[in-house]
Amino acid sequence: MKFEIKNRDAAGRICKFSTKNGIITTPTLLPVINPNKIILSPKEMKKLFGVEMVITNSYIIKNDEKLRDKALEKGVHGLLDFNGPIMTDSGTFQSYVYGNVNVDPLEIVEFQRNIGSDIGTILDIFGTPDQTRSQAKNGVIETIKRAKQSMNIKGDMILACTIQGSIYPDLREFCASKLSEINTDFFPIGGVVPLMENQRYQELIRCILASKRGSNYSKPIHLFGAGHPIIFPLAVALGCDFFDSSAYIKYANDNRLIFPDCTLKLDDLDELPCPCPICSKYTAKELKKEKKNDRILQIVKHNLYVSFSEIKKIRTAIINGNLWELVERRANSNPHIIDAMRELRTKNNKKWLEQFEIISKNKALFYTGNQTIHRPLIYRLQKRLNERFKFLSNKYILLPDSEKPYSKYYINEILKIYSSKKNVNIIIKSPFGPVPIELDEMYPFAQSIFPKKLDSHTNYIVKRNFKNFLDEKNEIPFKIENTVIEQPENYDKIFQYLDIRKIYSIADMQFGKNAFNALFDGEIKIVKSKKTGKIRNIYCNDKHILSMRAGDGLFTLKIDGAKKLHEFFKTPILRVIINKDAVPFIINGKSVFAKFVINCDNNLRPNDECIIVDEKDNFLGTGRCLLNKIEMLSFNFGMAVKVREHIK
Ligand code: GUN
Ligand code: ZN
Repeated sequence: MKFEIKNRDAAGRICKFSTKNGIITTPTLLPVINPNKIILSPKEMKKLFGVEMVITNSYIIKNDEKLRDKALEKGVHGLLDFNGPIMTDSGTFQSYVYGNVNVDPLEIVEFQRNIGSDIGTILDIFGTPDQTRSQAKNGVIETIKRAKQSMNIKGDMILACTIQGSIYPDLREFCASKLSEINTDFFPIGGVVPLMENQRYQELIRCILASKRGSNYSKPIHLFGAGHPIIFPLAVALGCDFFDSSAYIKYANDNRLIFPDCTLKLDDLDELPCPCPICSKYTAKELKKEKKNDRILQIVKHNLYVSFSEIKKIRTAIINGNLWELVERRANSNPHIIDAMRELRTKNNKKWLEQFEIISKNKALFYTGNQTIHRPLIYRLQKRLNERFKFLSNKYILLPDSEKPYSKYYINEILKIYSSKKNVNIIIKSPFGPVPIELDEMYPFAQSIFPKKLDSHTNYIVKRNFKNFLDEKNEIPFKIENTVIEQPENYDKIFQYLDIRKIYSIADMQFGKNAFNALFDGEIKIVKSKKTGKIRNIYCNDKHILSMRAGDGLFTLKIDGAKKLHEFFKTPILRVIINKDAVPFIINGKSVFAKFVINCDNNLRPNDECIIVDEKDNFLGTGRCLLNKIEMLSFNFGMAVKVREHIK
């Protein structure tokens, strides 16, 4: 099994997943195929909606003589007439629905192997939400036992070992970590159908987060039984890779149409408010009049169009770096999800999510409502401000939010303040909270769009951020005058001073406290863009230390800068430490692959600049991280660091 990250946003990811029967892209949706009643064939689904993989049920196949014989003879791919990857489930869900079913846990795994399933599933114990802790725990222990036994007989089939644990996060995490220990390759999160059916999304989020925490980060996560697209964006943002849908057919049988944020009854519709080919071809009246089977088939198609369109939207959002926006928009369409989103405001969950958050994006941060202020990126910035920003003194002047970049808009005020008292901090009252003027071009302070008037919850959080940041410091009153002041004598000096302060503050925010002092221990030369006037390259004693990126106002670390940080910070700070076998590759200009990483700084984030060293902390080069620590250490495939400069 090969699972490799290609793109990412939030804790979500676009991956390539390899099976015996082809490579597919995740996140994706597996339509559930009932082998007894194929309404729309997998082949047709592939043609119409780009379906790459389907899921069917081995318990149903095994218990029907005709299906069983055909599957054993022609394989499950022959049975379904589909040559792409096929996942099979085991009968656990049937035992949940019908009570006990007659199936042996090892026999059913063996059967899935024998019919050539690409991904088989263990016969896990379905942990219902109404279970007591001890009932749930017994189920988890039995599930782990069955997983262990099943791993021995799976052959070359990928084996999905379901994470159970009812609504108890510690049991979920325990189950996931035990399954990781036995090298499980595929992790469904099970027992969540009743939560979704009853819109208990907050508990669902808790289950997902706990399962993710315990599981191996380099393996796919499947949210078992999640077929309504309303939950897809949030589940993907929390790290789910697979969904399966029987909803498309269940709803169709019930004359109901799926939409990204709701389900509507055909009987209640005078129009079909959807751009899919079915809804374009039919009027609501015509569809209602269709014969039952034809009508069901058309609704099935509509439901799958909508579901796959949502998957495509999510993938696009990951590539564009605005998955949180999509999550918030979808959440705002359903009160139960709004409630559930509160779960993401807890400190523990923000801390966990922050690890996956990319350093900067090429898209502005876009406000969608009162959940935006709780984004992991904003949490990170406030935390870093509190931990890393060096004040000039305990005095500050507050300036209101304005057009951006702030230092351009407030050029007169800056000149006025710095020409008389240089040691006063200038702080902007931004919608994020405090933004020191020095950081005004750093992502996302300059690259963000908020409404002019904030909602009261955001205001409350922003006030709290101010209080934390400016605690025990004194505000100096300052009056903004709308007259242009005369250019002071020391005009150039003031701007040089502001430039140095910018470099100082951004370096510390990006690389850690005192990074500036480590990087610049001699004469500093700043080269600016002739066109934009922005800082471009920074030298110290004629050595090129940093370049500033115009897009996000952050630094690219040059090799001489990396050497200075390497000298100053002790290992493992800013380091990615690689196996000696990989050293020759780096020296020859190749990237660092995840399987060669033996340790790294816990504070490195995707897209962070890093220092590459060997096991003895010998300096090898510098580059850009693609993964965070837990990912670098768990993935065996794909790139971990894109090397930019290296020793010869
Ligand atoms: N389908 C929906 N939920 C589950 C589950 O918990 N386990 C299995 N095996 N299949 C499911
Ligand atoms: Zn439609």
